[in-house]
Amino acid sequence: MPLTFPPGFLWGAATSAYQIEGAAAEDGRTPSIWDTYSHTPGRVSGGDTGDVAVDHYHRWQDDIDLMSGMNLGGYRFSVSWSRVQPTGRGPAVQRGLDFYRRLVDGLLERGIKPALTLYHWDLPQELEDAGGWPERETAYRFAEYAAIVGEALGDRVDSWITLNEPWCTAFLGYGSGVHAPGRHEPRAALASAHHLNLAHGLAVQALRTALPPRAGVAVSLNSAVVRPLTDAPEDVDAQRRIDLLANGVFHGPMLKGAYPEGLFEDTARVTDWSFVRNGDLETAHQPLDALGLNYYTPSLVSGPRPEGGGSGADGHGASEFSPWPSAEDVVFHQTPGERTGMGWSVDPTGLYDLLTRYSKLAPGLPLYVTENGAAYEDKPSADGSVHDPERIAYLRGHLAAVHDALRDGAPVAGYYLWSLMDNFEWAYGYSRRFGAVHVDYETLARTPKSSARWYGRVAASGVLPD
Ligand code: NOJ
Repeated sequence: MPLTFPPGFLWGAATSAYQIEGAAAEDGRTPSIWDTYSHTPGRVSGGDTGDVAVDHYHRWQDDIDLMSGMNLGGYRFSVSWSRVQPTGRGPAVQRGLDFYRRLVDGLLERGIKPALTLYHWDLPQELEDAGGWPERETAYRFAEYAAIVGEALGDRVDSWITLNEPWCTAFLGYGSGVHAPGRHEPRAALASAHHLNLAHGLAVQALRTALPPRAGVAVSLNSAVVRPLTDAPEDVDAQRRIDLLANGVFHGPMLKGAYPEGLFEDTARVTDWSFVRNGDLETAHQPLDALGLNYYTPSLVSGPRPEGGGSGADGHGASEFSPWPSAEDVVFHQTPGERTGMGWSVDPTGLYDLLTRYSKLAPGLPLYVTENGAAYEDKPSADGSVHDPERIAYLRGHLAAVHDALRDGAPVAGYYLWSLMDNFEWAYGYSRRFGAVHVDYETLARTPKSSARWYGRVAASGVLPD
């Protein structure tokens, strides 16, 4: 049966600055940690960098045409901090801000609602040189940057997101080191998590001062859907520990004003959490207007297995370079079912569980799926068209799960497909394609895939076909 979404449901697509913009050294932009990291041999697959990416910085008008052709009601993008504030502190570069002003105006002219993410992982390198997220100072610098962007664009952007997936920043950037800046320091990962919570709260405060009252402020979390392999106590405890380190460590402070019970005990041999100062949790706990959730696949965990087990389907298997401080003995297992090009299993029930969980954790707070999508090996056919039936099936399944969650009372207000177009997939470089629009990396030509046309029909009608 076709599924009808509520009137006003927002149909969007998402991208981020480093993944699409290119123009890495133009108009005053200085390197971010991702420029440094991608230029470090061995860090990114194929030696790929975001120097050119998909050249959105110069092709943004064409890209807005693509969005318009897909009937998008919303577009989520991020601002490159080092384009706006090259040293991560002090006065803004007007040319950097002007780029985003033009982009936003172009979106508004087409009736596409901009949703602006302030931080999608590209810390100005100068701030990393001063210590990065493990340093408290970075949180204050982020609030200053938030105020600058808020003042510059608050008259035209109504939807604001402070941080994208702070878990990745803290635990992949400073824990396992598979993301920039590539540090493997468990204590620094936890200090980063705390300073990201603080940065979020300080930025919300700065935005409330800078923005008109109609503007809404949110955060995008990649809260994990963690399931135990069996109901054996050690597996249930593995789930509990990972849930604290993946989810509670952020939603505790941000939504409840407290770190969850058990987190300090679990991590006691890594840190005494002395970087938490009086008043920080109150600061992190700011009223929000919405919550963004990014979802791709669930995780299946168990306690230690004698045979070592676990295949680390998502790359988070037990190892010395585990991103899970104090839970290195947890084993990650392959989740059942079909897999995407990332090796991630396709399981829409995880999205349903996530949305219903957060509707209870934060009652009444509108929820947005700020990312959901899949990578596949899309290849143009002889006539140049790109057919991606697996992506359509993935999106259909996950949108049906959103519909189920709505039916069961979760206040889901919108959905942003990841991603508008193929782009730089972090440590995987350009080898993984998440786009609804295909990008030829030789010519940078854009070709909407069949999923773009399919999604465009869903967006126009608000109805999910069978
Ligand atoms: C989450 C991140 O926010 C985004 O940048 C990334 O490309 C997608 N997941 C896919 O891995």
